[in-house]
Amino acid sequence: MLKITFVCLGNICRSPMAELIFKDIIKNNKLTDKFEVLSRATSSYEIGNPIYYLASSTLRKHNISGTHIAKRISNQDLDSDFILVMDSDNYNDILKINGVDKNKVFKLCDFTSNPRDVADPWYTRDFEKAYNDILDGCTSFLQHLKNNKLI
Ligand code: 4NP
Repeated sequence: MLKITFVCLGNICRSPMAELIFKDIIKNNKLTDKFEVLSRATSSYEIGNPIYYLASSTLRKHNISGTHIAKRISNQDLDSDFILVMDSDNYNDILKINGVDKNKVFKLCDFTSNPRDVADPWYTRDFEKAYNDILDGCTSFLQHLKNNKLI
């Protein structure tokens, strides 16, 4: 069983999108039983809030269902096998946490052929671009696990 924790600033847009997209991909690959998949925030801004409505409608448009309530990352989550962040700010924030294993922390889109940050839709309102970046990252991450015989 691999524990995967997706992380962004608020846990209402990018990381819950990643959680639900990755769950959809592993379901389609009949690999659900091999994973525990979570998403968390680096900040406390949105704790207790549901997925932002434009992130939610973008997922629905792509036939991805599910809900999430925002939670901040805690020490309990640090036993994840992979902590997959959305951008460099998230990466720097996670590395400030006492006890985090740097070797487990990656930017999601660094598994793609075009390493980059996931486009932040909060200010641009471009949730489709974020969706495409996250889908690319999640697909490439699963391929990485297969290539390295981790699943
Ligand atoms: P997320 O988006 O980190 O992808 O969930 C944001 C959510 C809230 C804020 C910024 C980004 N905020 O500043 O409150």
